[in-house]
Amino acid sequence: MCGIVGYLGEQQAYPILIEGLKRLEYRGYDSAGVALQCAEGMKVIKAKGELSALEQKVGNGAPIGHMGIGHTRWATHGAPSDANAHPHCGCSEDFAVVHNGIIENYLFLRNWLEKEGHRFASETDTEVLAHLVEHFYHGDLLQAVQKALEKVRGSFAMVVMCDKEEDRLICVRKDSPLIIGLGKGENFVASDVPAILNHTRKIYILEDGDLASITPDSVEIFTPSGDPLQREAIEVNWDAVQAEKGGYPHFMLKEIMEQPHALRETMRGRLLQGGREISLPELEMNPQELRNISRIYIVACGTAYHAGLVGKYAMERLLRLPVEVDLASEFRYRDPILDENTLMLVISQSGETADTLAALRLARKQGNKVLALTNVVGSTVAREADNVLYTWAGPEIAVASTKAYLTQLLSLFLLTLYLGKARNLLSRSDLENFGKAIFALPGQVEQVLERSEEIRELAEYLAPWESTFFIGRNVDYAVAMEGALKLKEISYIHAEAYAAGELKHGTLALVVEGVPVIALATQMNVIEKSVSNIKEVNARGGYITCFAQEGTTELQGEADGIFYLPSAPDFLMPIIAVVPLQLLAYYVAVARGCSVDKPRNLAKSVTVE
Ligand code: M6R
Repeated sequence: MCGIVGYLGEQQAYPILIEGLKRLEYRGYDSAGVALQCAEGMKVIKAKGELSALEQKVGNGAPIGHMGIGHTRWATHGAPSDANAHPHCGCSEDFAVVHNGIIENYLFLRNWLEKEGHRFASETDTEVLAHLVEHFYHGDLLQAVQKALEKVRGSFAMVVMCDKEEDRLICVRKDSPLIIGLGKGENFVASDVPAILNHTRKIYILEDGDLASITPDSVEIFTPSGDPLQREAIEVNWDAVQAEKGGYPHFMLKEIMEQPHALRETMRGRLLQGGREISLPELEMNPQELRNISRIYIVACGTAYHAGLVGKYAMERLLRLPVEVDLASEFRYRDPILDENTLMLVISQSGETADTLAALRLARKQGNKVLALTNVVGSTVAREADNVLYTWAGPEIAVASTKAYLTQLLSLFLLTLYLGKARNLLSRSDLENFGKAIFALPGQVEQVLERSEEIRELAEYLAPWESTFFIGRNVDYAVAMEGALKLKEISYIHAEAYAAGELKHGTLALVVEGVPVIALATQMNVIEKSVSNIKEVNARGGYITCFAQEGTTELQGEADGIFYLPSAPDFLMPIIAVVPLQLLAYYVAVARGCSVDKPRNLAKSVTVE
């Protein structure tokens, strides 16, 4: 939801801003802009479209200056256009603001400012920030920003620059992420770490309400009322190469291929002694607390929600505990019933999703402890939860989530086994067998990846269609939902996931000659039922491709194609079965000429509700 960068120091700001914005384009890409403090005054350049449109507009005339701010936008208020692109200025070009978030009372503020004589140039909520700062400026930018904030309601991260104040940026964080990168004689601001990884790994993560005044040599952080604060700088361990495409045509393909490594990283140090020991010290719960859990509540959005659904099947099966999974956007508005023995688990790759964060806050307000499963160290979810289990997937840049999903599944399985052991539900040999099976998963995912050519062939069949179905029973249904979401979001084909047994209650009417149907049939306890559902599709002429465990004989002659997957205990199969679906979505999107890493209308990190 919009990417922000800022730089001040000895180097030329423009290339640093552009490089940072390129790494943040996953947050929004419908327009981009920069503002630089130049010898001849503030220079603001903006362009509708992806960042390349801005670069083209600038051409060889890059502004010369050592301080600047940049922005890549995901539109909320006002359509994508040059005028609505950030940075926004006040009536003069003395003030420039970049912003991520929503100003809820912007209409009221705009009316008031117009009465005060301010003239607006865009339809955005952000522009009121620039005019407010201009309105309250009497020689001190920090004070002007503080005054402006007193008027504003909403969620924001913003960086403000003033042409009258050399070498100073003011930034604010409230409900949207913002970090400060620390260099020598130079400092950086950004929405996310990859933007500045080439320059520094030492960062401050601003907390909600923090204001910061940054010069090339200093960073001062204040409370909203201006009292100085001490924040501890942290070192991030991601390296810049991880955030590059590394020779792949798209981040998504690179991230799919990184999955075996990501799985190994996520299980490292957690699964010990051949699987008999599971160590999750992050949980910090005493054995009695673990035994007292009577219900698990999982809350998340999108792909993370689908991971939660897979977790539900594993937990209910192995722990015999009721598990509810809710969409974060629904959870908070339906007065959820949580009690002290409910383990509340939120899942979020980015750790910044607004709805998930709101659900976490609601649960904590009700007195519940929250365990977070997230990929981003220091993210808001990680900082606000009582306990954090990290998925060690490394930076995920493509909008379509792949390796984060796989590591979320693995973490949920590890958590399940950990709880099963603590509650004496799993025998030593169960644990040993599951442990061995988990250790085998990265290699099995590699085997599937090696067969990506077979999936590309299926993609050729699928690419011209506008509608398709994913079906499955039991946990295969949850995997079908993820497969359908992947296909929809990057290839724009309408894809519907259906519980295979439910098809005949309505949706089967849509299956006619040749309609592509992807059937997951990896769950051996329902294989015969799955075969019956596949026959129902076959009889209507659907073009069926099955994904099943190797050694499954029941499907022969029932489908147009069968892709046999390496075998694992049923509850672990989603980790293997989703991989060809990710590849399928990828190859279909490429065949259709879609923008794989930056699908239309979407952004990687959804920091608005
Ligand atoms: O960062 P989060 O895991 O909280 O993000 C949740 C969803 O926005 C995300 O999974 C989204 O559905 C992906 N684009 C799906 O590929």
